[in-house]
Amino acid sequence: MDADQKPEIGFEAAEIKACCATVYQSDVARFLLGTSFHPGGTQLTEYLGSLLHLGAQHQVLDIASGQGQSAITLAQRFGCHVLGIEYSADAVQQATEAARKSGLDHLVTFQEGDAEALPLADNGFDAVICECAFCTFPDKATAAAEFFRVLKPGGQLGLSDLTRVGAIPPELQGLLAWIACIADAQPLDAYTRYLTQAGLTVDLVEAHDEALQAMVQEIRGKLLGAELLVRLNKLTLPPSLDLEQARTLARAASTAIELRQFGYAILLAHKL
Ligand SMILES: C[S@@+](CC[C@H](N)C(=O)[O-])C[C@H]1O[C@@H](n2cnc3c(N)ncnc32)[C@H](O)[C@@H]1O
Repeated sequence: MDADQKPEIGFEAAEIKACCATVYQSDVARFLLGTSFHPGGTQLTEYLGSLLHLGAQHQVLDIASGQGQSAITLAQRFGCHVLGIEYSADAVQQATEAARKSGLDHLVTFQEGDAEALPLADNGFDAVICECAFCTFPDKATAAAEFFRVLKPGGQLGLSDLTRVGAIPPELQGLLAWIACIADAQPLDAYTRYLTQAGLTVDLVEAHDEALQAMVQEIRGKLLGAELLVRLNKLTLPPSLDLEQARTLARAASTAIELRQFGYAILLAHKL
């Protein structure tokens, strides 16, 4: 697919965004993933921050900030100001509470918003990060144009996301697979094209496939525990999540990762 071509997705864009937000703000997501919802966790976030050479003078934007863990980690480690934009109002509330508890709420704030229509002025940020979320945006070209718009000239983007080689196997398609960042994972060169067509210059592409394999293995282990807790009424599932389906999906994803059909990568780019 060309980077500027609208995807044929089979679901309404609004349905994808709402389902994604509902699943990731749920107790079961926290049970399965902790508070950092991407492969490599806070360690990979810190690494991304060091690649971006973040410092106390920088204004950073975290797009699709989830529970706020990455924004808090970057502020803690580098002393930068971070604004997290997130589609889910509940996640914004949870992240705001986490920032307050961390004592870093003077540096870290969160706001509701859509990555494809950021409620922010042009040229406001020294760095933008977006971890494990770009692949879930239905209109990636528009989201990439938004990254470009809100960056200052000379500002940098740090993107980390799922990558694929070849076609998506049928067992890894569907709404749940989309939410799990699998069904619309892009080949590395497509990510590069989206960023380049938005006006950014790509400086670095780095594979971190082992982080994805480790995350999927951990989720597979925890899914058994989640099923037990649901049966005991100690964990509530969002309506769009079926644990048996999730187990089948995780098994298929694990096989696809072993076959090197899926991986995880960091891309750095800058705005001239
Ligand atoms: C896999 S989670 C990643 C969260 C966070 N970046 C992290 O690494 O912990 C994907 C997040 O993207 C958010 N999201 C999905 N579509 C979005 C959109 N169009 N605009 C803003 N956030 C969105 C979801 O609500 C969810 O919190």
